Amino acid sequence: MKINGLPQRTIWFDEEQQAVRIIDQTLLPHHFNILSLNSLDAACHAITTMQVRGAPLIGVTAAFGVYLALRDGETDLSAVCERLLATRPTAVNLRWALECVQAELSPLWGPIQAGVSTVPSIEPTQVRIEAALALALWLADEDAAACSAIGDHGLELLQQAWFTKLTADPTAVSLNILTHCNAGWLATVDWGTALAPIYKAHSKGIPIHVWVDETRPRNQGAFLTAWELQQEGIPHTVIVDNAGGHLMQHGEVDLCIVGSDRTTATGDVCNKIGTYLKALAAFDNDIPFYVALPVSTIDFSLSDGVKEIPIEQRHGSEVSHIQGLNELGELSRVQVMTSHSAVNNFGFDVTPARLVTALITERGVFAPNRESLQVLAPL
Ligand code: MRU
Repeated sequence: MKINGLPQRTIWFDEEQQAVRIIDQTLLPHHFNILSLNSLDAACHAITTMQVRGAPLIGVTAAFGVYLALRDGETDLSAVCERLLATRPTAVNLRWALECVQAELSPLWGPIQAGVSTVPSIEPTQVRIEAALALALWLADEDAAACSAIGDHGLELLQQAWFTKLTADPTAVSLNILTHCNAGWLATVDWGTALAPIYKAHSKGIPIHVWVDETRPRNQGAFLTAWELQQEGIPHTVIVDNAGGHLMQHGEVDLCIVGSDRTTATGDVCNKIGTYLKALAAFDNDIPFYVALPVSTIDFSLSDGVKEIPIEQRHGSEVSHIQGLNELGELSRVQVMTSHSAVNNFGFDVTPARLVTALITERGVFAPNRESLQVLAPL
């Protein structure tokens, strides 16, 4: 996607500097800062502090983290992957990417990785390092391609929705879509998941307007989604998280599209906290509720999202404090409540499949149930 009209990805390899580069998402939308990741520690730090965030991007960053570790002379691939896996618990793309990396790279260690040899670990070789980098770059390209394909499949749904709306009301001026959190290109390598169909529809001339949930506590909607949409020239309005139900009751929302951090084999969807309440409101108002996700977000080992998906709990200061520009135009953080109340900060919730209209993936649009999703399961 574009920033100030120029194409940009969220993560890339700078050949000249031999560094992995990211956009520091903790400073957006106020500052656009590029950071270099030069070590495993830096990659882990970037994921835990959410300099990079969003399920697909976390996975790709972890793959680059493996490369950085090997480049620094790490030899224990499993230990490196375990460290990366521990950075955030909910998004399954992290595990998926690390499993890909282990499956592809382990053979380069021979029997040592399989634990059947007592031979001391061999020195890291250029071959392993180069293979790790090639794999991370491939995963990044695959993610961008998958998200673009999600956009193409979602576009068909949006074209249909706009046609239906215009047929019923020839004076309609826009297709109003509600989204939660940031499932745009900043959450992936490029295109995004929930926002990819919106970008494609906009470029086809469909007059889209997006209701952007601010998404407390970290405000990914107000900070990131709004900024992305603004960069692409897409009309949007930021609303408080509690406004969606009211807008739906008054016919102001035609459909919802959100992303997912982990989807079960049965179609339950785990996404940013508050997604479930939006799905309930959409269901009550007979409004389609779509979830856009790459197939790597489906955890085929799980059947019951509410019971089985681990929900990240983050630091309470994300609730008690808020970041923004002060009157001097400087980025600052203020406390919005007293220190005397307990605070809880669940990062995600689960929307049961029965509230989801359909899952938009890079391989097509699927009903949220085991029978339909079966075809996507790895053999
Ligand atoms: O905590 P975050 O910002 O990493 O949460 C991100 C989301 O919840 C996204 O909706 C999800 O990762 C889907 S991203 C394409």
